[in-house]
Amino acid sequence: MSEPAIEVYEVEDRTFPPPADFAAQANTADQSLYDEANADYEAFWARQARELLTWDRDFETVLDWQLPFAKWFEEGQLNVSANCLDRHVEAGKGDKVAYHWEGEPGDKITITYAELLTEVKKFANVLKGLGLEKGDRVAIYMPMILELPIAMLACTRIGVAHSVIFGGFSADAIVDRCIDAEAKLIITADAGYRRGAAAALKPTVDQALDIGAPSVENVVVVDRCKTDPAMTDGRDHWWHDLMAEASDDCPAEPMDAEQLLYLLYTSGTTAKPKGIMHTTGGYLTQVAFTHKYVFDLKPDTDIYWCAADIGWVTGHSYIVYGPLTNGCTSVMYEGTPDTPGKDRLWDIVERYGVTQLYTAPTAIRMFMKWGAQETQKHDLTSLRVLGTVGEPINPEAWMWYHEHIGGEARPIVDTWWQTETGGNMITPLPGVTTTKPGSACHPIPGVFAELVDDNGNVVTNGGGYLTISKPWPSMLRGIWGDEERYRETYWSTYEGKYFAGDGAKLDDDGYLWLLGRVDDVMNVSGHRISTTEVESALVDHPAVAEAAVVGGNDELTGQAIFGYVILVGGNEASQELGDEIREHVGVKLGKIARPKTVIIVPDLPKTRSGKIMRRLLRDVADGRSLGDTTTLADPSVVAEIASRAAESDED
Ligand code: WTA
Repeated sequence: MSEPAIEVYEVEDRTFPPPADFAAQANTADQSLYDEANADYEAFWARQARELLTWDRDFETVLDWQLPFAKWFEEGQLNVSANCLDRHVEAGKGDKVAYHWEGEPGDKITITYAELLTEVKKFANVLKGLGLEKGDRVAIYMPMILELPIAMLACTRIGVAHSVIFGGFSADAIVDRCIDAEAKLIITADAGYRRGAAAALKPTVDQALDIGAPSVENVVVVDRCKTDPAMTDGRDHWWHDLMAEASDDCPAEPMDAEQLLYLLYTSGTTAKPKGIMHTTGGYLTQVAFTHKYVFDLKPDTDIYWCAADIGWVTGHSYIVYGPLTNGCTSVMYEGTPDTPGKDRLWDIVERYGVTQLYTAPTAIRMFMKWGAQETQKHDLTSLRVLGTVGEPINPEAWMWYHEHIGGEARPIVDTWWQTETGGNMITPLPGVTTTKPGSACHPIPGVFAELVDDNGNVVTNGGGYLTISKPWPSMLRGIWGDEERYRETYWSTYEGKYFAGDGAKLDDDGYLWLLGRVDDVMNVSGHRISTTEVESALVDHPAVAEAAVVGGNDELTGQAIFGYVILVGGNEASQELGDEIREHVGVKLGKIARPKTVIIVPDLPKTRSGKIMRRLLRDVADGRSLGDTTTLADPSVVAEIASRAAESDED
């Protein structure tokens, strides 16, 4: 762990109890779920598993905990797609809308549970036809179109694990993930719409396969934007051709509760992303539970909308698996919030009568910048619950959400969780919790969090490191292919506890305030990016000899990436070269990982033992005072870095 930078907010003492009319109709409005879970958390989760899911075979063991390896509901068998689709259709809800899908250029598709089930069965047969078998892995690199959840659910129907790769990632990122997972197939689209234009995807897959991912035998391509991409004979197949011939008869196979459901790669503190493993029964239990209680879901009447991308865990759990398991109607949106206008989201909320909106603090800060007049163009009174996820929400953004989107009358649920935790962990329950702007409040029933200090002692008031002290159903089961790294990353820092990598504070009332990462992971617009990964991409540029990357504060994106680079001898520092180096990271990793600023420096501040002083670089990035620099190998370096940083700020 590198120098923790725990900063404590000023005391925030505004409180917002659940509105009385909301609490009166809420799925839960008292302490009973907490009491039940505190009395016996295994029994609590077993009850949720049996009530929320349909099992082909019941389980006997609730939890087998061989620290750090958990098995939940071991003997149980179930199929995820059957829980998401078949059982609702069998219960007479086949005509219920599963998704109202909105494409960016204005196209709309409404798909019912029965229709979705047919598509999933057909695509499961396509997968079988391409030789995929239970236990295999498939990579998915797609825009936000309905074929994406169809592909995911088809995988679950036959026990194939999917690995969804966010559509903004580069060819190199695809290669790394396909090689690591030994993916046999890539499912993609020619392109996806972004701000009115088609953004190519298939050519990036081609590039990846040219670099080399030998396990990939076939590519299935959805023709989303009619961009006429190159198709390689024998390897590349059009989705519509395969589907035209596929049978819609495909029974759901019962899977063991611990069958691998998916891999989702996330940035850690090294250059190599980790393939986070999620399995079937426990994962589905916790996402269904949280979706029902955190969003106060009323499946018969609600129109729920999580405005995330399925390429991230939020989309997996709260666009696909949670909402479908609970049989609700969701909105799914392909595009960006500013196209065709800056009121796009509010237009969608009004037209569908959206009841729950789940988005990120970065988006809220952007809406604030655009101004309340955009929200005032639309009737937002259908909204009942507002959610946020991905990064700490500053009290100003929370209040703006409360006032301008929530009309000062809707509960806000600030949900803390991670790719690794699979589902919400720390969040208010909207009918129960009195909220404070900027606090994620309390762990959900059945989840137990503790703050610890540097020595691992439990902190009951003030700042510390966030740990989870008991296993939970949707916890990651490991890192694909690297058992040791799993143990090391999450379970070795504090004995017997899961180390989340976040700093937090407990206030006098026992409320938790999440304060951001304490390791070398940055959070840019709610996306996790590893400093090491960006550093490797920087030094990959031929003109760069050494690089150090830090996350500086940014009003809009939470953090922004600052890269400090030392040039290889013979290269002249220039604005053009800095830009070229910046672009290089975009090409290597994807645009989201491109530094906001690249600062060319003659040297980097290091301790006498040769460790780069990131704290100092962060201070420079934030324009803070430099403080005590006497542990530097060469103090003059710092002044030089600071002046270069100031120059590049002016550009
Ligand atoms: C951060 C996203 C504060 C945190 C679901 C965590 C948050 C990382 C919150 C996980 C929140 C997420 N308040 N910080 N409500 N939600 N984070 O894996 O630093 O993309 O460790 O999962 O985001 O990011 P990930």
